[in-house]
Amino acid sequence: MERTVVIYKSKYGATAQYARWIADELNCDLVRAEDFKAKHFANYDNIIFGGGLQAGGIKGFELIKKNHWILKEKKVVVFVVGLSVDDRQNRIDVRDINLDKPELRNMTLYYCKGAFRPEKVTGIDKGIIKVCIRMLEGERYTGTDAQKQLYKDMTEGADYIDRKYIEPIVAEFRTN
Ligand SMILES: Cc1cc2nc3c(=O)[nH]c(=O)nc-3n(C[C@H](O)[C@H](O)[C@H](O)COP(=O)(O)O)c2cc1C
Repeated sequence: MERTVVIYKSKYGATAQYARWIADELNCDLVRAEDFKAKHFANYDNIIFGGGLQAGGIKGFELIKKNHWILKEKKVVVFVVGLSVDDRQNRIDVRDINLDKPELRNMTLYYCKGAFRPEKVTGIDKGIIKVCIRMLEGERYTGTDAQKQLYKDMTEGADYIDRKYIEPIVAEFRTN
């Protein structure tokens, strides 16, 4: 029987929720990226990694990047959790920023919509959000619908977490 693990990095809880749902559906191990060591990869055939998006980067993704050579013989799938619209350009941007080595380019990326509560933002994130909002301010009336929505979500907060987003991920690994 193949052994599968869901590893996740979550600051505000959305990625953790998706990771729990996936592990629950697949009845497999669930580990926080902080607790997962490179030597643990040997215990698994399938790796599902999830991380929240932050300024385009996938949080905690260094774990996969650093160890890509150990993962060559394994099935690795990544899910990202973010607020922006899941369109073609956004997928290209996320791939370009994160899968920036030839050996990472073939990785499958899934997108799950996240949540954002302005009142919960702490530390350096506050500054990043301020910059994002300032950049989007110019688009709030004249931008695309996606830019207007992102501005609204970042200023007012939003919650798009939905179990439906895990369906294609689970389908890749379901054996029955
Ligand atoms: C500082 C900061 C930067 C963010 N940057 C992005 C981004 O570039 N793209 C995106 O889609 N969402 C972005 N978001 C939204 C988060 O990805 C979203 O809130 C997600 O649910 C976070 O995952 P977590 O709840 O597991 O921490 C950002 C949120 C914060 C706080």
